[in-house]
Parts: sequence; structure tokens; C-alpha cells
Amino acid sequence: MIVEEMIADKTIPSTTILEQVRNLAQPLASGHYVEDWDTRSFEIGRLSDAYSLLAKENGHWANTTEVAAVRPLSVTASRYLDNESTTGQARLSMNFDFTLLDGEDYRVVSKAAARLDSAEKIVISSAAYALCYLDNPPELTLELMNLLYEEALHLEAIGRLLGIDHSEREWIPEDRLGNWELVRGCTSPLEYMVIEHCLYEGRGTIASAEGAYQLERAGVSSPVVAVMDAIARQEANHNISGFRWLRLLDRGRAEDDAALASTVRRFVEVEPVPDADGSDASLRKHFPFFLIQVYRDTGDFRLLKEHIVAASRNARRAGGPGIAPEELYRQSEKALAWCSVTA
Ligand SMILES: [Fe+2]
Ligand SMILES: [Fe+2]
Repeated sequence: MIVEEMIADKTIPSTTILEQVRNLAQPLASGHYVEDWDTRSFEIGRLSDAYSLLAKENGHWANTTEVAAVRPLSVTASRYLDNESTTGQARLSMNFDFTLLDGEDYRVVSKAAARLDSAEKIVISSAAYALCYLDNPPELTLELMNLLYEEALHLEAIGRLLGIDHSEREWIPEDRLGNWELVRGCTSPLEYMVIEHCLYEGRGTIASAEGAYQLERAGVSSPVVAVMDAIARQEANHNISGFRWLRLLDRGRAEDDAALASTVRRFVEVEPVPDADGSDASLRKHFPFFLIQVYRDTGDFRLLKEHIVAASRNARRAGGPGIAPEELYRQSEKALAWCSVTA
């Protein structure tokens, strides 16, 4: 009997699905290469459908808007970015018939994507870690399952385009160990969503869209750019997810404010923020702190979502988040000053 039938039959209680998810995620949460990382990740993606059904049956997420926001993430992302006209595209291009790149395409993409596979690997392990060790609300569990699945799709796409043998590389290379330690230091869903999704994916939103822009400018063939575009759309939505959850988990108490400040500071201690020199890297790395300050000033999730979507679109069109540098740096500096004083 397949899982869906067993749920319909009510022979599987929800805890069993969560246990299944944790069993699948556990080896990935080690931060090391796992031979069947893809099967495990895709099974988690498949189970998310079953989990969603069961949660609805049990009366979770009676508010349909909330349900619509969590599933499926990639569709939500393309909706934000493309006014629904290309809703299916993000998914379709992940089903692209991947062929190993060669010649100039291979040279350009392998140079641009030299660190991209490890970026996907660490988020797979991070999501697995959050699923296994954090006490997440059910809706967040579902979202993390989808996130893990999408990151595995990204890794599969990159691996197949470049013919990477994952068993031959460090799953988490040395220069990402600080990131991994930050994740492993998280003890609450709020901390985790802030570090991974508000901050890291804030940078990733710009980096991935800029990546697609640069590949196109370098003359790489259009199917490859389409794959990068699909990844960039999903990264923007992962960033949006971070601020949505920050809004939901932050109860507005003094201790929530202090927790946010110390989490942001913990991030900055591991990932120092570069000077405000107007370079691409500087703008990209200040962008998440700009968002944090907008959150602090307004608490307006819709506004944050608009900023993220606009920045992603701009980075795709012209490189860079498209916010006036003085404004971006002013807000970012405020957030950085706040977290060092408050934390
Ligand atoms: Fe990704
Ligand atoms: Fe992501």
C-alpha cells in the first residue's frame, strides 16, 4: 500500500510521516556526502504531498491563503516574478532534458558555477538539519521539505550539466564550514529561517539572478540560461519564505527582538560584511541587511516581498539589486549598528 492510500485509510498517523521524513533526512543532516542523496531528497519531496493532505485532513491550515502560500513553492515564485504568465516554466525547465555541456558552454558555465554545487549541497544539508533537530510548526515542516526538494533539483541540474561526480568532492568545502556551523548552532526555527533564508538566501537571490544575467551576456545557449533562471526564481522565493516565517514566528516581544539581533550578529561574526564601496559583491552582501532594516521599520511582509521580487528582476536584467546604493547602504548600516548594540 502506498503512503497516500495508507493516510486516506488513516492507518498512518502524522507522526509516522514525520518520522519517515526524519529518517530520510538524517544522513543528509550530517553535512557529508550521502550516496543516495537524490533518492532521499526526491522522496522527501514526494512525502510533502502526503504530509500536506494529512495536515489538511487534521484541520491544519483552515485558512486557504496560508495553504496556497506553502505549496508548491516554485509555482508561487514564478507567480510573484512573472504575473502568472509563466507559472509552469520554473518547474518545466527543471525537467529539461539535461545534456552534458561541452565546448564554450562548458567552459563558461563551469567557471561561473565553480562554487554553485556546494551552495546547493549545504542548503540540502541545512534543510535536513532543520527537519531533524528543530521544533518546527507543521506548516514550516512542509515548507522545509519542499525547500530541500527544490535545492536537490538545483543540484541535480548543475551536476548533470557539468558532469560532476559528487562523490569526489567535499560535500561541504572548507570555505563553507562557517555557514554549516551557523546552521548547526541554530536552536529555534526563527534563528534558522533568519540565518538561512533571510540572510544567506538574500545574497543568493541577487547572486543567482546575476548569474543568469552573466551567462546570457557570455553567450551561453538558451536552455542553460533557462535552467539558471528557474533556479533564480526559486531562490527569490526561498528568501521570501524567510521573511514570511520571521513575520509569523516573531511575536513582537522584547525577547524576539533580542533573538533576531543576536542571530543577525552571529551571522555577521562568521560572514563579515564588506565595505560600502558600490561593487557588485558589496551591494549583494548588504542587500539582506537592507531587508532586515525594512522588516524592523515596517514589519510589512508584502513590502519585503516586493523588494525581493524587484531586486531579483533587476539583477536578472542588469546585475545588482537595483536599489540606490546610498539608500541600500544607509538601511544596511542601521541594521548592522542595531544588532551590535542590541545583541
Ligand atoms: Fe538552490
Ligand atoms: Fe534556495
